[in-house]
Amino acid sequence: MSVLVTNIGELTTQDGEVGTLHDAAVVVNGDRIAWIGPAAQAPAADERIDAGGRAVIPGFVDSHAHLVFAGDRAAEFAARMAGESYTGGGIRTTVAATRAASDDELTAAAGRLVAEMRRQGTTTVEIKSGYGLNVDDEKRSLRIARSLTPETTFLGAHVVPAEYLDRPDEYVALVTGPMLAAAAPYARWIDVFCERGAFDGDQTRAILTAGAEAGLELRVHTNQLTAGPGVQLAVELGAASADHCTHLSDADIDALAASDTVATLLPGAEFSTRSPYPDARRLVDAGVTVALATDCNPGSSYTSSMPFCVALAVREMGLAPAEALWAATAGGARSLRRDDIGVLRPGARADLVLLDAPTFLHLAYRPGVPLIHTVLHNGVPQ
Ligand code: NIG
Ligand code: FE
Repeated sequence: MSVLVTNIGELTTQDGEVGTLHDAAVVVNGDRIAWIGPAAQAPAADERIDAGGRAVIPGFVDSHAHLVFAGDRAAEFAARMAGESYTGGGIRTTVAATRAASDDELTAAAGRLVAEMRRQGTTTVEIKSGYGLNVDDEKRSLRIARSLTPETTFLGAHVVPAEYLDRPDEYVALVTGPMLAAAAPYARWIDVFCERGAFDGDQTRAILTAGAEAGLELRVHTNQLTAGPGVQLAVELGAASADHCTHLSDADIDALAASDTVATLLPGAEFSTRSPYPDARRLVDAGVTVALATDCNPGSSYTSSMPFCVALAVREMGLAPAEALWAATAGGARSLRRDDIGVLRPGARADLVLLDAPTFLHLAYRPGVPLIHTVLHNGVPQ
């Protein structure tokens, strides 16, 4: 079945050749885009959606989220707002709650978050494990994640769980051995939290290398709370993405700029931990490819809203609105090594968002306002 979306006031394609169009139309055939051009020249289609002059953008690509968990940590957030600092130690609280939850509870909770994201314009989401931290609970977390997205990430190396605190090397052996074997069939990616208090450079290297040998592609949580070796390691090992990138040295930025590794910035985490934001302007000016994602999780960033992240990137991180939108769509796609999403061009997935606004600028200009009018995901209005 084909659908004509016409009377588009402003169409942002993120396609280098076409860029922005006015008075435009898009024809969708099945789950793919078939045609883009001036509304006056649009071919006929089975169905017609009148965009009413609204702006249309590619669906957001949220390339970093932790959605399989139970419970919340609202009290921890309140304590932070009263002056406590974030250390990542609360991850173990969520691990205990997640282990105690049933499959149905975890599946329903993760599905609710994916639906919440969809209503806010996200059409692709990456989902990590990382709140199970034993073989069975990591495996079931990934099984649940896989039922919701193909972009699943094994994060057994989130922190060392309580029962292994005095023998971290044994935990690394578990992660690189039986846990990886159980997780790999359900995961595309492997990730490590490379940070003081989580995993050091040597442990991160060992875990990522084992993951690559098992056929997984690499992403790294790194330089979130402190500077460290993770960015250089991500680049050296050919990771698709280095995520957080809040505390970077000049050498880190040079390494990213000379690589294919995307810097995925997660401003919801700085917002919710009251921390300094990463310097997105400096990264873009240095030639680094930047993505924006929510980091949706119950501890450091319990937002599912890509428009909120776009607004933060513009207001707090020095990106122009067009750069922030690119990072939230095409940049996320780049970090997931996908060329069929985050862009509107013939052949790409028909993932597009009609905004209740005449221009995408309103995403940053009108923060906190529900501007998502209609979402087409795989060509289907949601
Ligand atoms: O990306 N930094 C590590 N992991 C998450 C936080 C997880 C949590 O606090 O529960 C993050 O910020
Ligand atoms: Fe994260």
